[in-house]
Amino acid sequence: MALYHKTVVANWKMNTGLADAIILGEGLKKFLENLGQINVIVAPPCLWLYPLRELFSDCKLSNLSLAAQNMHFEEEGAYTGEISVAMIKKVADYVFIGHSERRQFGETPQDINRKLRLALEWKLNPILFISQEDVKISAGVLTDYLDVLINRVNKEDFGKIAFVYEPTWAISTAQGGHMIAGHELESVVAVLKKRLGEEAKVLYGGSVNTKNAAHFTHIPKLDGVVVGSDSLKLKNFIDICQMFAEGRES
Ligand code: PGA
Repeated sequence: MALYHKTVVANWKMNTGLADAIILGEGLKKFLENLGQINVIVAPPCLWLYPLRELFSDCKLSNLSLAAQNMHFEEEGAYTGEISVAMIKKVADYVFIGHSERRQFGETPQDINRKLRLALEWKLNPILFISQEDVKISAGVLTDYLDVLINRVNKEDFGKIAFVYEPTWAISTAQGGHMIAGHELESVVAVLKKRLGEEAKVLYGGSVNTKNAAHFTHIPKLDGVVVGSDSLKLKNFIDICQMFAEGRES
């Protein structure tokens, strides 16, 4: 049986030049050669997926993977500027679906659902964001929204999806972005696992950084985190991974 490891996802968003991406990638590769007890998934801008895949191809690390930050819900066609599931499948193991920052481009929950089903059909591992704007967390609102996202997805496929709870008010670039309280996150994880099954992976995203990562390492049943801004600073990101690998509290 494979050992259970927590997952730390680096969301670089629309940041880094190619040289920075390679430097960050090299640093991560070196660090992970000496630390096996963690799964790291890097989501660079899509143009850097191929060079990073080349960079990682000479290492035998099974705990370092790549994710695309988005994909289109159609397989192909006249969609200027878009990227298809088949294209991503060639260079990445995972794909982000439904990150809240995609809403400004008109992405709807129904689009997210189509993307999710297409990724599963293509056996591309989805990292599904459950983005919530409400500051007051309600189990009913959360599961109603989740049910739209996972509409017509087979229960047996829930284990192939990483579900990320992402309150938009907690994202570092959000106005007044603030941290979620531990007990609130605990109840969110419990609500999601009750709906999805205990084996479903549930992660958290929103202002996770070196200063507060320890706060998340001991949330019961939380399977990992998504890190935005702090994933662009190699030392900080490595420190966060180390805390999750060791289950460290400070
Ligand atoms: P943040 O970004 O860590 O900078 O808040 C997280 C995310 O939006 O994925």
